[in-house]
Amino acid sequence: MLNPHFQKLKTAYIFPIIENKLAELQKDHPNQKIYNLGVGDVSLPLAPKVAEAICAATQEMTREARGYGPCGGYDFLKEAICKNEYVQFGISPDEIFISDGANADISCLQDLFGENASVAIPEPSYPVYRDATLLSGKKLVFLPLTEEEGFIPRPPKRLSANSFHQDWKQSFSLGSLSSTYTSLSKLAPVSRKSSKEKIFVPSGKSNSQTVSKERVDLVYLCTPCNPTGVAMNKNDLEEWIVWAKENRCILLIDNVYNAFASSDEIPPSIYALDGADEVAIEIRSFSKWAGFTGLRCGYSVIPKTLHVSELNSLWQKQIDIKTNGISYPIQKGAEACYRPDVCEELQEQIATYQMSAKVLRETLITHHQTFFGGENAPYIWWKTPDGMDSWEFFDQLLTTSRIVTIPGSGFGPSGEGYVRLSCFLSNPLAQEAAHALQHHFTTV
Ligand SMILES: Cc1ncc(COP(=O)(O)O)c(C=O)c1O
Repeated sequence: MLNPHFQKLKTAYIFPIIENKLAELQKDHPNQKIYNLGVGDVSLPLAPKVAEAICAATQEMTREARGYGPCGGYDFLKEAICKNEYVQFGISPDEIFISDGANADISCLQDLFGENASVAIPEPSYPVYRDATLLSGKKLVFLPLTEEEGFIPRPPKRLSANSFHQDWKQSFSLGSLSSTYTSLSKLAPVSRKSSKEKIFVPSGKSNSQTVSKERVDLVYLCTPCNPTGVAMNKNDLEEWIVWAKENRCILLIDNVYNAFASSDEIPPSIYALDGADEVAIEIRSFSKWAGFTGLRCGYSVIPKTLHVSELNSLWQKQIDIKTNGISYPIQKGAEACYRPDVCEELQEQIATYQMSAKVLRETLITHHQTFFGGENAPYIWWKTPDGMDSWEFFDQLLTTSRIVTIPGSGFGPSGEGYVRLSCFLSNPLAQEAAHALQHHFTTV
């Protein structure tokens, strides 16, 4: 018997469609340069000192056998992360769990919650939030993002906290934790009525009459955000912390782009804010700030002070069962990223991507385009002109300027009317892409 939830993944994957279009273009115009601003992957080579650390660790293994490591990561890496990122916020190494990147944690942290739990995701968003929720069979609730709100997710309006609060403790601690784990922790699962996917209306002024009665157990928030390129400031995040406390919900903060946030208003971590350690799990990665997309290393922070205090120990159980950890050399490479000389090199790479984003932003500003992002994230969310649909604009840009984007509709229906530009480019390539864009503006 196959997992029936796979059938819910109806959306056609956009990358094969884009690749086909590119292949056709290359066939018809073999000598023309194509600027791929679609893929959100790093383009600068790995820092040589990181490679040296990985090689040295591998050599070390030729001198002395080193077998399985701790499933949740070696202490040397947890301590380095803690010292450099979290100690000032009261987080300790035993609240940090090393993984093979953020994707796995984004998907698997849901396993700690029961199949009757409901999960809210902003829309448009990184597609893994939606697909992982659908595959797990949990109830999916969308939080549509709007241009009026600057694509910042807002907590849904709902009945007063009290009316939910009363039965919350029971329904959460019993019903929402995975029944597998609840049996481990001697809690009896309770069933809750299932319902169809539901759309929450964000709490903007225009919707102030709308009050949703839906409860949620988990909310994904991505900041700085892929695909919209916007980052949530202290006030935006505090609003969510208050809401999560009132509604006894857990926030999963996907903070893989934290290195790109240049504004002082953007907290480096959710734990910089009071009360976050009671409601938030933070997911981070070495992928984008240290060029580890091909090496694979990330981590999740699961505070012991969360209002569902079992989550830390349940996650330890989960990884003990399902993984055998990340390789020693890769963890040594990740540790090296915190050496001051390596940090400096990585910071230069981030500065390169930020400069590329600036070049593209300035081109769009010169041509009076409406767009979001590019300042605190490596993505620009560009509104299509004259209400064109995302794919139509994608085709137009490809034909006029050989620029590849990602149609916004690929990130959810509210992404229709936008395209995403990735700024993971060297500066010379960004300049060339900017010229290609200028050519587009003179052609249309
Ligand atoms: C928002 C977001 N989260 C997570 C990931 C995955 O990161 P990792 O390479 O650590 O799995 C990506 C990758 O593009 C991303 O954009």
